Amino acid sequence: MPDLFSPYTLKGVTLRNRIAMSPMTMYRSEPDGKMNDFHLMLMGSRAAGGFGLIFPEQIAITPDGRTSTSCAGLWEDEQIESMARVVRMIKDMGAVPAIQLGHTGRKGSEQKPWEGKLQIAPDHPDGWQVRGPSPIPYGGRFPYPVHELTVDEIHALHRAYAAAAKRALAAGFEWLEMHFAHGYLGASFFSPLANQRTDAYGGTLENRLRFHREALDAVRAVWPERLPLTMRLVTDDYHEDGVQFDEAVWAVAQLKNHGIDLADLSIGLNTDDMREPPFSRAAFMVERGSRVRREVGIPVAVSWNLGQPAVANQVIREELVDLVFLGRPALANPHWPIWAARELAHEDPFSLLPRDWSWWLKNRPGSENSHGWPAPAIAS
Ligand SMILES: Cc1cc2nc3c(=O)[nH]c(=O)nc-3n(C[C@H](O)[C@H](O)[C@H](O)COP(=O)(O)O)c2cc1C
Repeated sequence: MPDLFSPYTLKGVTLRNRIAMSPMTMYRSEPDGKMNDFHLMLMGSRAAGGFGLIFPEQIAITPDGRTSTSCAGLWEDEQIESMARVVRMIKDMGAVPAIQLGHTGRKGSEQKPWEGKLQIAPDHPDGWQVRGPSPIPYGGRFPYPVHELTVDEIHALHRAYAAAAKRALAAGFEWLEMHFAHGYLGASFFSPLANQRTDAYGGTLENRLRFHREALDAVRAVWPERLPLTMRLVTDDYHEDGVQFDEAVWAVAQLKNHGIDLADLSIGLNTDDMREPPFSRAAFMVERGSRVRREVGIPVAVSWNLGQPAVANQVIREELVDLVFLGRPALANPHWPIWAARELAHEDPFSLLPRDWSWWLKNRPGSENSHGWPAPAIAS
């Protein structure tokens, strides 16, 4: 029976445990879209803290695919080395570097959260004309008109996905996730709340998944078979006119047949008008994740409120999902895996630290009393 600390192999890549740092947009790049010392610190510390798989934030495939002008991207070769530097650090600390490629669609052109998180007007120096499947603004804090993508522009975006994937490979990433959830471009193609096209990219479920399939084909053509290619997908819009869970299960099955190696299941966020928003329930995505895993027969990862070690361990032990993605817990505690290992009475928690540190903690007399870590809540 696997547990949180069992290695996990997908394609030709093996993670040292089942714990991933979930992608999180940090608004700390310059407008050049490069990563910098901040990203090196953030990712390096989590890799040294024992996470098996590390995602930096969503990386934009085009400048207008960013959340804000302070977000990272891979739309030109000059950005590769800034990411390669972070990748080398992640690998040196024993984790696997993953990249999440995406395009924010009609939810781009945003202020930083602490500056208001409102959409910025297209004629402002920090804003741009947002694009989506249909000219339907998201509404609320995203009020500006949406340019309806032409078919040629859709094909250009698929080429941008492939070009960014090629650059990700050159930077040394070993796991690629396409972000098609959270109301961004892929999610909005799948949702009738944002997609009311009458051409081959709209209408039927089959058509609303065409954007995903073509983007996947474009990326697969440049991303090696030996490396995992995964998607973050919508399970539900929590709205009667939006994506329903059964449709999402169907979509995962189609995409499995089309070649994705794992489904990272999340929520639609295609509208603010959601019935019973479930975000605060512990492990709320696990039930749906396990149903997809069982019914579709594909490896599944989920995030959302899995920061309690016993809960995270249980969902792996019961084989409900394959990987646990941690967002806010990874921000709160760079050493979450080591803390969890101690809480769960792992036989050698400090072995997850880099040897440069663990040697001292394990071999110096009295270390058990001098390192300052609180005693585990659960007695071994
Ligand atoms: C600051 C912050 C930024 C985020 N940015 C992204 C992102 O770039 N891509 C993405 O797929 N999810 C993003 N998320 C969602 C997380 O990856 C994760 O799915 C979510 O926070 C739920 O997990 P948690 O309960 O462990 O935080 C972000 C979350 C936070 C807190």
